[in-house]
Amino acid sequence: MKLIEVQNYEEMSKVAAKTIIEQVHTKPNSVLGLATGGTPIGTYQHLIKDFTQNNTSFEKAISVNLDEYIGLEKDNPQSYNYYMKEQLFNHINIPENQTYLPFAKSIDDEEAGRNYEKLIESLGGIDMQILGIGENGHIGFNEPGTSFSSTTGIVKLTDSTREANARYFTKMEDVPTHAISMGISTIMKSRKIVLLVSGVKKAPVLNELFQAAVKEDLPASILKEHPDVTIIADQEALSILKENKGSVYS
Ligand code: GLP
Repeated sequence: MKLIEVQNYEEMSKVAAKTIIEQVHTKPNSVLGLATGGTPIGTYQHLIKDFTQNNTSFEKAISVNLDEYIGLEKDNPQSYNYYMKEQLFNHINIPENQTYLPFAKSIDDEEAGRNYEKLIESLGGIDMQILGIGENGHIGFNEPGTSFSSTTGIVKLTDSTREANARYFTKMEDVPTHAISMGISTIMKSRKIVLLVSGVKKAPVLNELFQAAVKEDLPASILKEHPDVTIIADQEALSILKENKGSVYS
């Protein structure tokens, strides 16, 4: 894992956007794996700014998102579908029919995961996957204990993840209990992975990621076995890791 240390959220966002822009310049028809949550919002703002100022074109790009809640319609403001349109797609020139998010009708919709796997395969796989990390080490919505061989499917959210995401909902009961998420093995097949980590709340998990062995209790730890992972982390996120003298960063 390569670590890029940045000062703060703003710098992380700029560096991440630059990485994506370079990818699209090098390969205009890149398949971009995109993430939601608070972390990538600044990155998307920089992509929009660059699109407006420098005309970086996403006309040939294809996007596949990591995950989506189950039980929220696509036009629900809390859905990741809505988020992606608001935060990015409506402001750049990626054609709508080249943007994909997983969608499951219910928690029994097993077909949905298989179809998403087939879709990613038919697109030739993911060129660059952007990831955030949950405070419990989840990637996508793959919670601790998920098999490293998991493929896209229905996942049950832990109470801690529902609590962490409750800030986007009016009340806790509104936070969905399940989601559909790209599996860990699906994420690992991406040719490049960029993990964004910002803020003091992520300092414990980032420290654990560097210190701990690869284990299913810490889903993000599998990234150590991927040949091309870049972590862009700010000073707050790095605070505990940097206190631990003798830490090895890679
Ligand atoms: C969410 C998403 C993840 C995201 C993570 C961190 O629940 N499913 O894809 O990376 O949790 O979210 P945030 O960036 O808001 O801290």
